[in-house]
Amino acid sequence: MARILTLTLNPALDLTVQLTRLEPGQVNRSDAMHTHAAGKGVNVAQVLADLGHQLTVSGFLGEDNPQAFEALFSRRGFVDAFIRVPGETRSNIKLAESDGRITDLNGPGPRVSEAAQQALLDRLDQIAAGHDAVVVAGSLPQGVSPQWFQALLIRLKSLGLKVALDTSGEALRAGLAAGPWLIKPNTEELAEALDNSVASVAAQAEAANRLRAQGVEHVVISHGADGVNWFSVGTALQALPPKVSVASTVGAGDSLLAGMLHGLLSAHTPERTLRTATAIAAMAVTQIGFGISDAAQLAQLEQGVRVHPLTEQ
Ligand SMILES: Nc1ncnc2c1ncn2[C@@H]1O[C@H](COP(=O)(O)OP(=O)(O)OP(=O)(O)O)[C@@H](O)[C@H]1O
Ligand SMILES: [Mg+2]
Repeated sequence: MARILTLTLNPALDLTVQLTRLEPGQVNRSDAMHTHAAGKGVNVAQVLADLGHQLTVSGFLGEDNPQAFEALFSRRGFVDAFIRVPGETRSNIKLAESDGRITDLNGPGPRVSEAAQQALLDRLDQIAAGHDAVVVAGSLPQGVSPQWFQALLIRLKSLGLKVALDTSGEALRAGLAAGPWLIKPNTEELAEALDNSVASVAAQAEAANRLRAQGVEHVVISHGADGVNWFSVGTALQALPPKVSVASTVGAGDSLLAGMLHGLLSAHTPERTLRTATAIAAMAVTQIGFGISDAAQLAQLEQGVRVHPLTEQ
């Protein structure tokens, strides 16, 4: 079992509203509403906890509406190292109609002051030593610059943590220069950050080589239902997921990342690591939520994953 810290700088409260049909401009009645604490690092933490690891969760949380997060952390036994900031954590509202159409309304998060950013750095200095790895996942909140983010990753590395990064846009671009231990972009995110297409395996291998020279040991590139390519020293593997019926892809990327960390930190073979991670991600898409609720189902999905060396293609 590993001790893992996850950092979510811009968490969100997900509010799913189910209704038969949305009538804009009218009074609409919903059939059901569900609120849950979310954000990529929080999601990754939940899957890692399902896999038996010990979690500390951190980042910035609005002090006006922390209840759903605090309830989740205490239910899951997470150590809460979030810095509270003035205002409300953003809400992402999903209007889910009975025909399957979903309308998203994503709110702005609180602006994070320099004082709060410094408070997070101080907190991380205090707690880092007790952890094997840190997952830094999701977008940057208002007030946090890519330069500060890069310095944060360099600091986490210098504190002796293995840094796993999953973000996009400017944050990914800045983060890559810090040389994190592992990255898990999807193909679009990586292409954007590198200003280069990574559609072919050859282009991905070349990008992974260049990233390795910057200190990135594991480049895990996801491509939805087409699976995952993983490049690291001496390993270039592809995993193809089994065909599953899709309930919701929410948390697929987070589940893949959690699965990769689980295998790597447990010193499983590369083949087993990628197979299990791909099965956990496939399991996420079969449910409205994500996570490992059924070990037998996971074992069955693992059997349906095809893993092979990329060089043999
Ligand atoms: N339809 C699917 N069937 C099986 N597995 C899937 C499907 N969609 C995604 N996955 C699995 O989940 C992994 C991550 O999905 P994807 O590449 O879409 O991540 P992402 O773009 O980072 O998504 P997220 O929105 O969660 O960040 C894929 O590599 C694959 O293993
Ligand atoms: Mg993703």
